[in-house]
Amino acid sequence: MSPERFAVRGARVLVRGSLERRDILVQAGRIAEVAPEVDRDAQTLDAAGLIALPGAIDAHVHFREPGLTHKEDWASGSRAALAGGVTTVLDMPNTVPPTTSLEALEQKRRLAAGGSLVDFGLFFGLTEQNVEEALAADGVAGVKVFLGASTGGLVVRSEAVLERLFAACRKPIVVHAEEENLMQAARTSLGRPPRPLDHGALRSVEAAVAALQTALELALRHGAHLHVAHVSSAAELDRIVEARKLGARVTCEVAPHHLLLDESYVAAQGCRGKVNPPLRPAGEPERLWERLRRGVVDCVASDHAPHLAAEKDRTYDEAPSGLPSVELFLPLLIECVARGRLGLADVVRLSAEGPAQVFGLRGKGRIERGYDADLALVDLQAGRTVEASAIRSRCGWSPYEGWSLTGWPVVTLVRGRIAFGPQGYDASSRGREVDLGESRGESA
Ligand code: DOR
Ligand code: ZN
Repeated sequence: MSPERFAVRGARVLVRGSLERRDILVQAGRIAEVAPEVDRDAQTLDAAGLIALPGAIDAHVHFREPGLTHKEDWASGSRAALAGGVTTVLDMPNTVPPTTSLEALEQKRRLAAGGSLVDFGLFFGLTEQNVEEALAADGVAGVKVFLGASTGGLVVRSEAVLERLFAACRKPIVVHAEEENLMQAARTSLGRPPRPLDHGALRSVEAAVAALQTALELALRHGAHLHVAHVSSAAELDRIVEARKLGARVTCEVAPHHLLLDESYVAAQGCRGKVNPPLRPAGEPERLWERLRRGVVDCVASDHAPHLAAEKDRTYDEAPSGLPSVELFLPLLIECVARGRLGLADVVRLSAEGPAQVFGLRGKGRIERGYDADLALVDLQAGRTVEASAIRSRCGWSPYEGWSLTGWPVVTLVRGRIAFGPQGYDASSRGREVDLGESRGESA
């Protein structure tokens, strides 16, 4: 059911920090009213016993299309997202070809518009040659800069290019902060073929902090908006806090795996746990949690990086880095509520309000009149154990296999359409590119 006008009835919604029963009237894909009772004549979507959260916005996914569709594509990635309560994703540029030209950007736009069941935004990837194109790219959620090489080999080391970008870019500059020279030096000094547990030393916290410092200095000097991707250590968060005190415009995200897993996962599972930046030693997640609870972190973003299990089970140098988790996005965060690490209001802030604000996504991130009717209707009592056989992402595995999670989305609505529910997926309509409130500069 996705009529033009209907009411989601009986769900509990967060109202000033506590859960209260509210009806949500949906009209033409938007929220028309949120009240204890709305238009009795409107058709009903019965949500009694469920809570309604704003659809999650995952500001960091790798959906792999074009080029690497054996790992994921827009259709499979967006189906996984919907199961995790995610209604908007922002996709990274390290596809094949990479999203580093206006032509590749238009190609990805067409693929996403044709295949995605969730709304989407795209990042443009910076290279040493394309800074003017990056600055001219209309409608992108931001420009992604790899200061150290990761999957896809996009890396920018030219100071002149970075200066130009930070001086002129009006969009969020999303930085993968790991310092290339320090990583190469660590590799050389290891003097033997690396094993999975060497990963953390080869891509150290020091390397992350060094790259972050470069980015923070640029952001401060030019007044640019820096967004730090997948912060993995407390030391980085502390630098970010210091830079904010100096006036830097800097936002950041943390990935679930850096909050929930540590190096012991690599000890047990080898390269399944290989990810850039790496899982850190025991104790580091707790220090991230402590800062996250203090409000230092703007969003949780999955960094969903699907690789097949067979690819991950290769030797250290052959196994690709990256962990999938978009389809567990809300279940993992809600499990953190059950474990007393977060409040439900924090989940909403980190999964919806925060990313919408950081990236300026119009109409997204809140259950309020006038906003898009992007909703995750969640059964807080539903318990399920994560199993590889049930994974919807084409990668077919999860670092959280065997975890028992309580609190799962039952229905996920995208702009008032039941995109995912007990009946399965609505494959008849497609996601849209996010509205950033800027003109795309196109003539009609
Ligand atoms: O571990 C990672 N995997 N880090 C990245 O920066 C890229 C990602 C991928 O695309 O697989
Ligand atoms: Zn990533």
